[in-house]
Order: sequence, then C-alpha cells, then structure tokens
Amino acid sequence: MALHRERWGVPDVLSRAPGRVNLIGEHTDYNDGFVFPMAIEFDTVVALSRAKSGSPSTVISEIFGEARRDDEREPITATHWAAYVFGVSHLLNGLGKSIGPWRCTIATDVPIGASLSSSAALEVAMARALLQLAGESWDATATAELCQRVEHEVVGMPCGIMDPLISAGAVRGHASLIDCRSLEMLPRRLPDGTVIAILDTMTRRELVDSAYADRRAACERAARWLSVAALRDAELDELERMPAELAVERRRARHVITENERTLAAATAMDAGDAAAFGALMNASHASLRDDYEVSGQALDAMVQIAHSSPGCIGARMTGGGFAGCAVALVAADAADDFIPAVQERYRAVSGLNASVWLSQPAAGASHIDSIGQHPE
Ligand code: GLA
Repeated sequence: MALHRERWGVPDVLSRAPGRVNLIGEHTDYNDGFVFPMAIEFDTVVALSRAKSGSPSTVISEIFGEARRDDEREPITATHWAAYVFGVSHLLNGLGKSIGPWRCTIATDVPIGASLSSSAALEVAMARALLQLAGESWDATATAELCQRVEHEVVGMPCGIMDPLISAGAVRGHASLIDCRSLEMLPRRLPDGTVIAILDTMTRRELVDSAYADRRAACERAARWLSVAALRDAELDELERMPAELAVERRRARHVITENERTLAAATAMDAGDAAAFGALMNASHASLRDDYEVSGQALDAMVQIAHSSPGCIGARMTGGGFAGCAVALVAADAADDFIPAVQERYRAVSGLNASVWLSQPAAGASHIDSIGQHPE
C-alpha cells in the first residue's frame, strides 16, 4: 500500500478480509438459525505498523480520510467511520491482547453500504492484523465474536454473527452452511456449471439500523410468547396459537421458521448438485423476506424480478439486511455472458440506474499477506 509506505514506511503487518454475499438464510442468524453465505472476491486490506509508546493510534482510509485516538480512555464516536477500527483495537486491549499504539492504512474494494458486509470485512481485517502484530494465534470464531461485540458495544448495531464469521472463516471455493447456535461452519461447493452473480441496485440503505433492531425485537417477542429460547426452536404450527394483536410478530416468526427450513433444504440440494432446487428455494426466500419479513424494497424487488426473467437465471433473491443494496442470483455458467447485459439493460429501463453486476467465485476468509503480496496460509 503506497499510502502507508509514503507516510510510515514498510508496514509490520499486511492483512486482508473479504466481504460476503449470503446465498440463503436471511435474518436467521440472530434467531440461532442457519445461514449460507460465501466470501466474495472483494476485500479490505489493512497495513499496520507499531507506533512509539505514548503516541496516538492513527488510521488513514483511502476513502474516508484520517482519524486518531490519543489513548485508550478516549471515547469512540459510534457514528464515526473509524469506530470499527478503534473498536476492534479497544476490545482486543480489553482481552489483554495489547500491542500499544499503532498506525494503519486501510484500502477496500468492497462496495460500501451495499449489503456485502463492508463493515465486517474492515473489522476482521483489522483484528487479523492486530493479532498478527501482537504475536497472538488466530481463531476465526473467536475473532467473529469479538467483531460482533464491536458492532453491539461500540457501533450500536445489534447484528448477528454471520458477517464476521464468514469473513473470518470462509474456505476458498466453498460457500458455508453455518449453524448460528453452535457456530459450526460446513463448507459446500456450488453446483457444477453454476456461478454466483451479485446485482447491485445502486440504492443505499437509510434508517436501516432502526428497522433491523425492530425486526430483531419482534422475533424476541415472538420467541418469548412461544416460550422458546430462540425462534430456531419454534415450530410452524405453534404460530397459529398466537393472538391477533401479535399478527406482525407471527409473520416475522413465520419467515424465520420457514427460512431455516429452506436453508437446510438448500444445503441438501447443494450436496445433491441440484441447482434447480437450490434456485427455487432462493426465490421462495425472497418472497418470504418481501411479504412476511418486509425488508425488501422497490429496487430490490425490481432487480430480483428482472434477474428471474434474464437468460440462465436459476434463482434470485435480495441478500443481507435488505431495503437497498444487492441481490444475488444463481446463474448457469454458460449463460452468464448474456445474463449480465440483459439484467443491466432491463434494470436501467425501469429505474434509470446503471446497475453493477459481478460474478464472484467463493473466496477465502481473512489471511495474512506477506510483503510481496502472497498469502502464505
Ligand atoms: C446484516 C447483519 C447480519 C444478518 C443480516 C440479515 O447483514 O449484519 O448479522 O442478520 O443482516 O440476514
């Protein structure tokens, strides 16, 4: 990273962590359920150097500029872009994994605010770099839990574990079925002859955090009413007993219960190489997110519909938290060259926006990069 070298010389450590796209299993992670994400070929790179004891910790972002924190007692502003970076360092310090002040530079090609987990990529890359500098061992699950704590305790976003876990622990060439209760990750290959397309509606989310917290709270109310630890433990027929005044909670719970079933069925379909079954489950997931969970939006619905009617599409749905950002499609590999321009042209016709569409192979989780840019692990 030229910026780091110019300012501070050769970094002591260089790390990277990827963004992700979730194939199926949406809004299930904070209900102890199942998700099926894969890391994508966009990542965030952190160059890190030790600073002299007593000096501030400083971060430069190619996109956002520079920020510093003078010492550990200085409060971190939750809404500031650097909260993710300082938050990781602060919580690692709290665990006794202290490395003292540092200087770091971050660069990313993960689209920001597009539902591709740019914040988890940043947190995980930072944690990877700090742990390497401190000579600490690397554990993907513990790191994901730490990054989730940054979101909860520093940023104030009550997110689940999916994003940091796939960014930290993904296996190259595989998506992962994750049990968000045990945190077990089961890597799975995509069906032969298929590719994953990421379809950016070019809309960005607003006020999503309060809607996210609302959805989470509704799930918790439903779980309490049903006397289960989490909606993962609830059965569909039990929802019929819920009173009329809990109609919203019932619909939210119906999404979560059916989405868990779809996600497990998708893993079975993937094991059997049954792309058509996987695609049908993606389509059903979108309908449930749109109608029962109400986290889609005009642009996402339009994009998904356009994807469905474009050459080679096997299945499509919104991905991530919802409301804006990206959709994901499973596409026949031999039709991908026709699929992309068809989607772009039709989306432009209905929205006036120029959608970005990327094909991504499942990428590897966070890694250390040596000074000549190799990934030794
Ligand atoms: C966001 C959160 C995740 C997950 C998804 C919805 O990406 O960070 O934990 O809840 O929304 O599936």
